[in-house]
Amino acid sequence: MKDHYGREIDYLRISVTDRCDLRCIYCMPEEGIEKQGHMSILSFEEIEEIVRAAVSLGVGKLRVTGGEPLVRKGVEKLCAALAAIDGVKELAMTTNAVRLSAMAAKLKEAGVSRLNVSLDTLKPDRYRRITRCGSLDHALQGIRAAWEQGLPVKLNCVLLGGVNDDEIESFVELTRKRPIQVRFIELMPMGEDKAGGGAFLPCSTVLERVPALRPFRPLAPEKKGVARLYALPGAAGQVGLISPLSDCFCQSCDRLRLTPDGKLKPCLHSSEEISLRGLHGEALAAAIREAVQSKPLRHPGLSQEVRSPAGRDMNQIGG
Ligand code: 5AD
Ligand code: SF4
Repeated sequence: MKDHYGREIDYLRISVTDRCDLRCIYCMPEEGIEKQGHMSILSFEEIEEIVRAAVSLGVGKLRVTGGEPLVRKGVEKLCAALAAIDGVKELAMTTNAVRLSAMAAKLKEAGVSRLNVSLDTLKPDRYRRITRCGSLDHALQGIRAAWEQGLPVKLNCVLLGGVNDDEIESFVELTRKRPIQVRFIELMPMGEDKAGGGAFLPCSTVLERVPALRPFRPLAPEKKGVARLYALPGAAGQVGLISPLSDCFCQSCDRLRLTPDGKLKPCLHSSEEISLRGLHGEALAAAIREAVQSKPLRHPGLSQEVRSPAGRDMNQIGG
């Protein structure tokens, strides 16, 4: 499907729950979200019907996200159903990996082809502080389990000035011997804006701290990813820079987002939502086309001072 600006929209991100087993300082309030009442989430059958409709319109790449997708019971069954849809070329997942060691084999069997793991520090104490309750050990065990299953893993590290920026070098160092991609992400002005003292840092900080990084051109370029790729000379892996603020990538935007309660978001940073609940057949397809056509050219200009007009927090959209 081409949008109003000629961009090919073929990627659907599916947030299967707004809940999470961590409470990252920049994302979730400490007390969690239960108290605010629980939104009524789509059943697996409803998600599958929506995805089938999107795939019949040209979507080929899917990502299951959250909140934390592994807290949704039976998520591997949903993955298996989605991977089996004719026309689905790729099914990925974004997870914090805390529950991954018990799930990696099931996800692989279900047809998940790769994982993005959120990991903002390699220090156990700091991990507990950033996530407010998580164990770095569990996350690392999860990542190892994924590797053992042959599932490629990309690490997502949100740059938090004064909190984890002294680890930029250590994260980059991980790519020297391992064929992984470490991606640094600029903190977006949404969710918990206090961010536990974490200040916005542009991705250019990474290049300043590690001047040995060189632009990396993949042999078979992944189609228009949002990360600008770099690598250390001779390294097995790569470093990706994701700069929604300092260098917006909207011109190559290829995605739609489905929220846990059945709204299609044409853009992460817009409050516009199209409700798909209760729609079937041609009405469902028409609503998806409408969402594609209403994708904005770009976000309204984010900065440290200007909060995202997303209308929801990250745990209800899935990044
Ligand atoms: N800014 C940047 N990234 C964020 N994420 C969650 N909230 C924010 C934010 N405010 C990241 C998570 C995860 C991905 C889904 O989005 O760390 O890696
Ligand atoms: Fe796409 Fe909106 Fe994100 Fe820009 S801000 S990349 S248009 S989703």
